[in-house]
Parts: sequence; structure tokens; C-alpha cells
Amino acid sequence: MKQDMIVILDLGSTENTVIARQIRDLGVYSEIHPHDITLDELNKLENVKGIVINGGENRVVDGVTIDVADELYTCDVPMISIDHPTSKCAKKYDAMPTEDEMKAFLFEECKAEANWNMKNFVEDQIELVRRQVGDKKVLLALSGGVDSSVVAALLIKAIGKQLTCVHVNHGLMRKNESENVVEVFGNQLDANLVYVDATDRFLGKLEGVADPEEKRKIIGGEFIRVFEEEARKLEGIEFLGQGTIYPDIIESGTKTAKCVKSHHNVGGLPEDLQFALVEPLAQLFKDEVRACGVELGLPAEMVYRQPFPGPGLGVRCLGAITRERLEALRESDAILRDEFAKTGLDKKVWQYFTVVPDFKAVGVRNHERSMGYMCVIRAVNTIDAMTATIERIDYDILEKIADRITAEVPSINRVVYEITKKPVATIEFE
Ligand code: XMP
Repeated sequence: MKQDMIVILDLGSTENTVIARQIRDLGVYSEIHPHDITLDELNKLENVKGIVINGGENRVVDGVTIDVADELYTCDVPMISIDHPTSKCAKKYDAMPTEDEMKAFLFEECKAEANWNMKNFVEDQIELVRRQVGDKKVLLALSGGVDSSVVAALLIKAIGKQLTCVHVNHGLMRKNESENVVEVFGNQLDANLVYVDATDRFLGKLEGVADPEEKRKIIGGEFIRVFEEEARKLEGIEFLGQGTIYPDIIESGTKTAKCVKSHHNVGGLPEDLQFALVEPLAQLFKDEVRACGVELGLPAEMVYRQPFPGPGLGVRCLGAITRERLEALRESDAILRDEFAKTGLDKKVWQYFTVVPDFKAVGVRNHERSMGYMCVIRAVNTIDAMTATIERIDYDILEKIADRITAEVPSINRVVYEITKKPVATIEFE
């Protein structure tokens, strides 16, 4: 292994991630592990140079105060505890150590080297994946999103053709998105890529369905069925690659952190299709995943793309989806993205997209009264998607976008800009 590592033991503090970031920002790789890790498990981790026991407000679970196992105090690397007055640790801090204190711990006591960088991380993960997988085969659902794309690129480097990627095009992708997946992974990276165009199948199931949650259920359920059918056609697969990243693990609830929402990339596969998981990004934060993608040579549009919901354009083509409106949505979204890229707003705004409601408005085209769809532009900024504010886009830019959309998408005759914060609105419309 290339990198030295500091292990943070999770005793329920919400500051775990802050400490992990503080240590990584000082150039040393850090991983958060559950407080009940055994000495044996700890010893199996490589290059551990020091341990941080991090207590906190959730230390009392169901009336019982939790602590790390006594045997851990016998391990022979330097150890500190934070916010944990009863710890048996020799060195205790009541609050987060300052940068100087942390530096002294890392570099003087632990003698760690500041060798955490993406190049070393990728090399270490490649070695770990090779050890885990051996000569077996791995399957990966490649949506084209940041996380699955970075995992795919890493696994292709690690195990080449032992990886099979399945890309399901549910017909609700943005313009050129599936084509890009095929171009980058199938052609440029020469991956084993199974491309499934399931557009007719998804749109058939969605026909006449107007309820947003029902639409989501159909899209999610159908996705698993298509993926399962493809998995059954392949032989000898023992592992499933997943683009799980660290925030997914925290939000799904650790032993001490409460569950915010359950995450699963390909959950719900039938019992007889159980695979062991390969999750090489599980310790990374989102910005680190992007840096990892850059290190692996993925194109910037793929690595820095804005969040896109799993049900895709399905929840932006409001009400019952029709092919005509879906096409209007896809084209207007592509124009919006193009103009945002030209003006640099793509680097500033967190999420931006168009929405096409399911009603028509009166307009005038070629001197004649005509009915057309309305296109809503939404552009929001947020840290965690729980609340969001509106980007104040320059009127000239908005007007240019409106002119292009109405000129290039004949079925749209009105463009509006949505200015509602979350709350009271949500980011998506459905
Ligand atoms: P809302 O609309 O809840 O969106 O304010 C918050 C963030 O979550 C994304 N979103 C989804 N992502 N499946 C996803 O994978 C979904 O069903 C879904 N619904 C909303 C949304 O794009 C925004 O970034």
C-alpha cells in the first residue's frame, strides 16, 4: 500500500467527517471505522499510523454508554481521543484539535507521511480490488452518473475484461447521455459493455401514469428487472461493483449515526442473485470522487456533471409522460445546458434543468394562433439538497435561452423562470 492511514473510530460524533477531512487536508489518508472494530480487524488494516477515538453526543445508545474494546488500547500506534472524557486514552482533547495540534499528532507522534493523493489512492484501490476479486468476474450497473462512472473507470483499470458494465437506457436520459456512456466506456476505454435500449419497455409501462410516486416506482422496479435479466444472461459473476460513496454510508445510518434515507444503487435484486460487493469509493467524499475521476482520465463533463435523479427526465415531464413532451423536455434541457456552459453558469449553479408541464398555452406562431407547451427553467443552489436558493440569472441570458428554446423546439411557445426556494417548493416538481 502506498498511503499511510489514520483510523478514526466512530463513537457517534457528527464531527467524524470533519476530522476525517481535517486529516486528509493535511495530506494524510484517514478512514472512519465503527467503534466496535476488534483488534484483529484493526491489525488487518494496512499502514495504520495512528488512531483517533472520537466520542460525541450519540455515545449513549439505548441507555448504554458505548466505548471501544479494551484490547484496542493495547495496539502499538499513537492514539488520541476527542470529546471523550472517560476514555482510557493517554492523550485527550475536549474539543476538535487545532490544526497545529493535529499536525503534531500526525507528523511527530505518528510519524505519518503526507502521501495522500489521488494517484496513490487509485493505485491502492486497484491493488485492493485485485486482491478481493482474484480471477473472478464483476458486474456493474453503469448509469453514467459520476459515482458509477468513476467506479467503472477504476475497475476497468484494475481488472479489465473481468468487469462487465450494464448500461440500461430507460429512455429518460438527457440528450446524448447514453451515447456518451457507450463512447467513453465501450469505445475509448474498451470495456465489456452491455448496452440495453429499454426505452419502449419503460415508456410502455409508464403510459397514462400521472402520479409521481407511481412513476418513480415503475421506473425503479423496471430498472431492477431489466438489470436482473441481463445479470442472468451472464455466467460466473460473483461480485457486484457499486458506486457507494461515504455520504451514502452516513445517510443510510452507521451503528451510531441515525438513518437519514436508505441508499442503494441496485437494491432489490432477488435472493438467488446475491453478490459480494466491490465498493472502492466507499471512503470518499463527493469532491474526492470527482478528483478520482480526473485522475482516471474521465472527461470533465462526466466528472463535474450536476446531480441527476435516478428517474431522470421522467419526473420533469410532468404528469403522464408522452413521447412528444419528453422530446421537448430533452431538447429544451440540452439548450439550457449549452447556454449555461457558454456563460460559465454551469460551474456556478448546483442544479439546473427544464420542466415541461402537461398542459398547453395559447401562442402566436407564423402570424397564427397556436397551442404549445410551456417550459419551466429551474436553477438552484444548495449545500445538501435539503434547502435550496434560486440563482439570480441575468435577464439577457434568460431571454437568449427563451428565444432559443421557442425557436428550436417547435412544440414549446412559452418559457418561464421559477423563483421558489426550497422550502416551500422542492427542487424537482414531482
Ligand atoms: P427534491 O425535489 O426532493 O430534490 O428537493 C432533492 C435532490 O434529490 C434529487 N432527487 C432524486 N434523486 N431519485 C434520485 O436519485 C429521485 O427519485 C429523486 N427525486 C429528487 C433532486 O434532483 C435533487 O438534486
